[in-house]
Amino acid sequence: MRLVHTIADLRAALANAGDTAFVPTMGNLHAGHTALVALAKRTGLPVVASLFVNPLQFGAGEDYERYPRTLDADCEKLAAAGCDIAFAPGVAEMYPAPQTFTVQVPATLANDLCGAFRPGHFDGVATVVLKLFNLVRPRAAIFGKKDFQQLFVIRELVGQFNLPVDILAGETLREPDGLAMSSRNGYLSPVERMQAPQLYRALVTVQDAIRAGERDYETLAATTRRHLSMAGWRVDYIAVRDADTLGAAGPDSARVAVLGAAWLGTTRLIDNLDFGLGEAV
Ligand code: PAF
Repeated sequence: MRLVHTIADLRAALANAGDTAFVPTMGNLHAGHTALVALAKRTGLPVVASLFVNPLQFGAGEDYERYPRTLDADCEKLAAAGCDIAFAPGVAEMYPAPQTFTVQVPATLANDLCGAFRPGHFDGVATVVLKLFNLVRPRAAIFGKKDFQQLFVIRELVGQFNLPVDILAGETLREPDGLAMSSRNGYLSPVERMQAPQLYRALVTVQDAIRAGERDYETLAATTRRHLSMAGWRVDYIAVRDADTLGAAGPDSARVAVLGAAWLGTTRLIDNLDFGLGEAV
């Protein structure tokens, strides 16, 4: 695997690579990320991964400074997963001047769900992803379904700007107790780590109720918020949405997504489940 830190070296590495499949990451890789690399490899294309903690997508008081930077371990994992090129730029390489041109995600999406609690977050994500796509020019790019709203934003970005890249979605990988793999799980204390799968179990309870025929999504979400709050979580949101539009789920929804974000102490966890309403259990 070739590790490059500059745009010039990235371009040199890509010069003879042909079409590529791209896995953008912020590093601190876990098995969920290497599964995305495995998905990228299934395209048969050379795989490029980026490792960049993007300041634009972090708000004031969020975890930008403490987000773990683990380049050496990340490179070992990427190489073992069969990645061909790793691009790990510094902030000055990606943003040599203030990024005054940015992607503005429409308010209906930018201020919804996670966006309601992280103002500017999706603008920052869309801006860096557009920049990375312009640098790597991949044929395919792989994003995890764990960040369901992000995946939706990227698909809209690609569609509305006619970007010539196929977006592939990787399934969420879970720990044996159900907790979705996330770089932020490392922030949890041992006690919080034991409690953390409650979020996943709460989403499963909602999923089970919907599969059993419950269609009062608001009440289901409100009940789940209350249960998590009583268990000590600070809940940002629990919501049942149409999985294809991310709008309100209704009688016409073929697929729904149950999404949640909640805090344990100083750690914000997100998770989601998406499923077809006609699907067998
Ligand atoms: O999902 C992430 O790790 C980040 O949001 C991404 C897509 C790499 C953009 O910084």
